[in-house]
This record gives sequence, structure tokens and C-alpha cells, in this order.
Amino acid sequence: MSTKRDYLTVASLSSEELAKVLDLADELKADRRQRDDLAGMSIGIIFEKPSTRTRVSFEVGITRLGGHAAILNAGELQLGRGETIEDTARVLSRYLDAVVVRTFAQSRLEALADAGTIPVVNALSDFSHPCQALADLQTVREYKGSLAGLKLAYLGDGNNVAHSLLEAGAMAGMHVAVGCPDGYRPDAAVIDLAARLAGATGGSATVTNDATEAARDADVVYTDVWTSMGQEAERATRLGDLAPYQVNAQLMQAAAPDAIALHCLPAHRGEEITADVIDGQQSVVFPQAENRLHAQKALLLFLLT
Ligand code: CP
Ligand code: NVA
Repeated sequence: MSTKRDYLTVASLSSEELAKVLDLADELKADRRQRDDLAGMSIGIIFEKPSTRTRVSFEVGITRLGGHAAILNAGELQLGRGETIEDTARVLSRYLDAVVVRTFAQSRLEALADAGTIPVVNALSDFSHPCQALADLQTVREYKGSLAGLKLAYLGDGNNVAHSLLEAGAMAGMHVAVGCPDGYRPDAAVIDLAARLAGATGGSATVTNDATEAARDADVVYTDVWTSMGQEAERATRLGDLAPYQVNAQLMQAAAPDAIALHCLPAHRGEEITADVIDGQQSVVFPQAENRLHAQKALLLFLLT
């Protein structure tokens, strides 16, 4: 029987495993020497949406661990011509040791994971972005020293990034407060799951319509684009609906004086975050982007060695 592990959502890990991956990420950041842990392994990278950070950091991370990254352009696979996801999974499992996939529906990742025999890593779906959340927690811990008991405010669209942050924050004992309008709330099942996970760690997961209330005394203020990949047709409506949730200097005033500002990037300055905040003293968005590399190397070592 296969013992393979997938990473489809943050809650694919236990809280203990999450902490272990974060510790390993710190170790890998401190010691960046070339390693050979993945020598002889080939890891497929299939992206059905654009990417800068995730794609490059996975490719570089795999190389630095001594493995081979097989970059598979989704449009050039038979998948794009209608071969089923299940048959694709069965075939790729015979060549590759793991596959990193960015796609639309979370169910496509689940189908790949169920039909294949190799670990599947979610590199972003419409529903979640669990690799991002690893780097996010690594970054918070780096700047704040710990995670449990901290307040993380997420402002804006209750999207894939918000879902993974809710899970990760709850598992780490953080108080995750989402500020968003009705109609942009995170999935109810994710809020319930985060509240349940937080119950075991001393954290909490809350959602409010009041941006200032969400941000009040927060140690971390986080936002993401208002129009995610695939939602371009809704852009005008979203700009209007989400305007009161912009992370700007006034909103940062409500947070703790030493709060840090995070954004998964890419950012739209003047929409979800103002230039003075993202380019200002409290912003740690580029260390956060760097940590994608370290956190994902740690995840691959956890899953494959
Ligand atoms: N934050 C993030 O996942 O960025 P990319 O879309 O560039 O990979
Ligand atoms: N919510 C964004 C994240 C991009 C990294 C999107 O899905 O487009």
C-alpha cells in the first residue's frame, strides 16, 4: 500500500507537521548549500495559470536539493486535448517522483492525487494556495519570533490565499481576523474548519465586515489582489465592492505600531494596497517572496525523503 503524502491544503498536514516543515524551512534558509537529498528524482511542474514566484522557486528549489524539475507546459500536454486527469496521473506516476500543479478547480488536484501514486503538491487552485501559507508563516515567525497568540488581519477578498491563511494561522495558534464585504467571505466550510483547528491550538478565526475592526491591534496585516486569475470579467464590480478594505496608511494606524504588512504578490498598488504601505517600512513582502523558496524546499524534503 502506498504511503505517499499529498499537499493539497494546509490541513493536509497536522499542526505538528506544519511546525516541523517551518523549522526545516528556517534551517534551509540558514544553510543554503547545494544538497543531494533529491538526487535521482524528477519532479513535474504543471501550471495551467501564470506564475512568477511559485514556478521559479520550485524549479530552483528542486535543483538546489539535487533533483530534476520537469517543466510541463499544460497547453502542450495531451491534458489540453482532453486526455483525462486520471489517465494523466497514472502515466506521470510511472515517470515522476512527485508533481507540483497549479490549476483551477481543487477537484482536479484531488483527482490527480487519487488516481496517481506520487505526491501531488498544490501550487495554487481557485480554492487554496497552501505553499504560499508556508512562506507566510515562516515570514511572520522570522519577524515576530513566534506565531501562537499573534493577530493576523486579512483584508479584502476571501479567496484562495485567505483560505490557506485561515487554516495555517489556526493550526499555528494565531488569531486570524478576516475583514471583507458580504459576498466576498471565505468559504463557510473553511471558516468552520479554521475555527475547529484553532480550538485545539488556542487561536481563533473570525470574519467581519468592518475593516478597522479586523485590523485593530493586529501584529500582521495581509492582503491579496481583488481580482484573482480567472475572475477578470468581474474586475470593475470587485474594485467597487472591495474599495473600503484597501490596506493603506489609515488602516495600518489601527494595527499594532510594530505591525508588519504582507502580500503574496503580484500586487496592484492603489487597489488592495497603497504604494506607501507596500513600499514602506512595515512591508516585508520581498522577504516573504524569498521564503517561498525555503518553505517549498522544506515541503519537498518532508514529502519525499
Ligand atoms: N504569490 C504567488 O503565488 O505568485 P505567483 O503567481 O507569481 O506564483
Ligand atoms: N488570489 C490570487 C493569488 C495569486 C498568487 C490569484 O489566485 O490570482
